[in-house]
Amino acid sequence: MTRQPDLIADVSEILLTEEEIQAKVRDLGRRISDDYAGRALTLVSVLKGSLPFMADLMRSITIPVQIDLMEVSSYGGTATETSGLVRILKDLSSSIDGRHVLIVEDIIDTGLTLNYLVRYLRGKNPASLRICALLDKPARRLVEIPIDYRGFLIPDQFVVGYGLDYGETYRNLRFVGVLRPEVYTADPD
Ligand code: PRP
Repeated sequence: MTRQPDLIADVSEILLTEEEIQAKVRDLGRRISDDYAGRALTLVSVLKGSLPFMADLMRSITIPVQIDLMEVSSYGGTATETSGLVRILKDLSSSIDGRHVLIVEDIIDTGLTLNYLVRYLRGKNPASLRICALLDKPARRLVEIPIDYRGFLIPDQFVVGYGLDYGETYRNLRFVGVLRPEVYTADPD
């Protein structure tokens, strides 16, 4: 029988509290507002994991900004490992030609998703292209990614919450927590 997730019991440790996350997002919003003042800025968020971060970050930015959403998925791999091959499920809605683009990501793990996205978006002729990532997990990095705005460095643990999922669950937690290993080792999916 498929195991029923338990949002609280399945988390062994809170890595980042709601307050810590919100303080960091406000700080990132201030820095981005200063750095991009007077420029045509588009935030490009990568669904679905970045949804809460994008929603909070854009409201911490005090200059005019446009937003766009992409959704990508990696081909194959398992629920906890990325394969490196990226497929676009939802593309940009508007042109970014001549605009300053900031990619908004929840987590950089191997770096393969962003490595692909950066090359893809560069081909659309933005005035500049930078990266804002809430979480940076460098232990698993396979390709070097320059992170212009980084929220938190995190250890090599499987984290969920604030947008991050396991099996599409746990995204609605307001904090980032460590998922108990027995949750993903016991699951045949
Ligand atoms: C997660 C996350 C990043 C990517 C990072 O997305 O949102 O896009 O993985 O991993 P990488 O650095 O190893 O490429 P995921 O594919 O799990 O989709 P989701 O955002 O819908 O959860």
